[in-house]
Amino acid sequence: MELKKKILCIGAGYVGGPTMAVIAKHCPEYQVTIVDINNERIAAWNSEELPVYEPGLEEIVRQQRGKNLFFSNDIETAIKDNDIIFVSVNTPTKAYGEGKGMAADLQYWEKTARQILNHAESSKIVIEKSTLPVKTALAMERILHSQNNGISFDVLSNPEFMAEGSAIDDLEKPDRVLIGCQETETGCQARDILVDIYAHWVPREKILTANIWSSELSKLVANAFLAQRISSVNAISALCEKTEADIAEVSRAVGLDSRIGSKFLNASVGFGGSCFKKDILNLVYLCRAYDLNEVADYWEGVVRINDYQKKRFVLNMLTSMFNTLAGKRIALFGFAFKADTGDTRESPAIDVARHLLGEMAEVVITDPQALDNVHLELGDLLDTGRIHPISDPYEAAKGCHALAIMTEWGLYKQLDYEKIFHSMVHPSFIFDGRNILDHNRLYEMGFNVYSIGKMPMTHFGTELL
Ligand code: NAD
Ligand code: UDX
Repeated sequence: MELKKKILCIGAGYVGGPTMAVIAKHCPEYQVTIVDINNERIAAWNSEELPVYEPGLEEIVRQQRGKNLFFSNDIETAIKDNDIIFVSVNTPTKAYGEGKGMAADLQYWEKTARQILNHAESSKIVIEKSTLPVKTALAMERILHSQNNGISFDVLSNPEFMAEGSAIDDLEKPDRVLIGCQETETGCQARDILVDIYAHWVPREKILTANIWSSELSKLVANAFLAQRISSVNAISALCEKTEADIAEVSRAVGLDSRIGSKFLNASVGFGGSCFKKDILNLVYLCRAYDLNEVADYWEGVVRINDYQKKRFVLNMLTSMFNTLAGKRIALFGFAFKADTGDTRESPAIDVARHLLGEMAEVVITDPQALDNVHLELGDLLDTGRIHPISDPYEAAKGCHALAIMTEWGLYKQLDYEKIFHSMVHPSFIFDGRNILDHNRLYEMGFNVYSIGKMPMTHFGTELL
């Protein structure tokens, strides 16, 4: 088939790669190119070992790569050649200057806008795929229209709702696709082109169109609401631990109310990932900028509870292990921020490891996909000599005083804990930060079992609880 239509995506990360692979799969008449300033990342996308681990991704990339899916570092040529440009660059929390630690860092975003402006020789549709503060499209348009050179640009907002670990499923069968545009003639035409692309595989009724500001804001709000559910259930988990209520029973009873719903009510050591914290802080910063301090305080509480939950987890370890962790060997099962991804950005395991190292513990870390990131995330503490990455979970557990489940990997439910128990120092402790293990069985084996939002099961008698 002759490829007549062309799509470009700037930013070959966790979002750009999977999203464009799925578009290429469903739109054979389009040629899809993905560019990035990171040459290593592009080389990896062109190799057998993709830079992003996602179930189902490799298969699609293998099928489409070289056919209608291309990875390149020639950004200039790509901008010249393509008239539909998705921008999926990173928008992390600002680490400097005004708004440090809260606002979105838009430097990569703005650089991309200027690259497009400098290299465009024809009119373009520019699509915001990255998560951005509301009103960013206005800034984008101002930059793009700053040289009166007769080239027109239409900016659309098309935020991405996929979650890591289930990216391909989420992209194949999205709950909705959201497209925001300016209500101008060319804005609506651009919107219709994007609607047609998604309509190749997404039912029309799931493709929502909106004004561009609603679209930008909806993304921040969706993440804030999702994270708020986890912080709500985690806050109640602390109360359960004091009252002999069981968080799993409470979640079930509450979630069966159809107005509330059962998803995203799993109590945990805390949420991680590159999005939730960053996007809530972004929302909080925006609210403060509009002088809406009460609204800002409300959402900031979601992040505060998450930090509290991680600290509380380590504090529970400390008090239950006789108030000292110094010299004790503790294995963290899981380093990724959730199962089925190698991504460790904002992973609760990082904070837990830092707190444990602060208590002078020896920290063993194991993970089936994310072990390489230990050096990246804990690099400043490597010279303590107390961080031990070990890929085999059985080896990791050997000689340890305690295990802590940090990531809900299916693998950890299937391990032979009897064998693990016998290789550990006794009394042996398990802290299940994801509530995924069979606690009764572990207790019967001889473990002292601590979980989130449930009463501990110990062999010590009540005075040590
Ligand atoms: P990422 O860091 O994995 O990828 C971003 C890529 O953009 C990097 O490879 C970087 O090198 C590249 N880049 C930066 N500046 C560039 C430039 N000027 N030209 C070319 N390439 C450039 O980030 P990500 O996780 O894919 O997230 C991208 C955006 O999508 C963010 O705004 C994020 O909030 C949003 N988002 C992420 C997720 C997720 O689960 N990760 C989900 C939905 C939305
Ligand atoms: C999130 C949003 O879900 C997604 O829609 C958006 O596009 C990007 O941000 P992601 O961060 O990839 O996706 O993963 P998600 O499944 O939301 O999990 C985030 C964190 O919450 C993980 O650490 C996960 O383990 C934790 N979590 C999730 C819980 O602790 N309990 C739950 O019930 C659900």
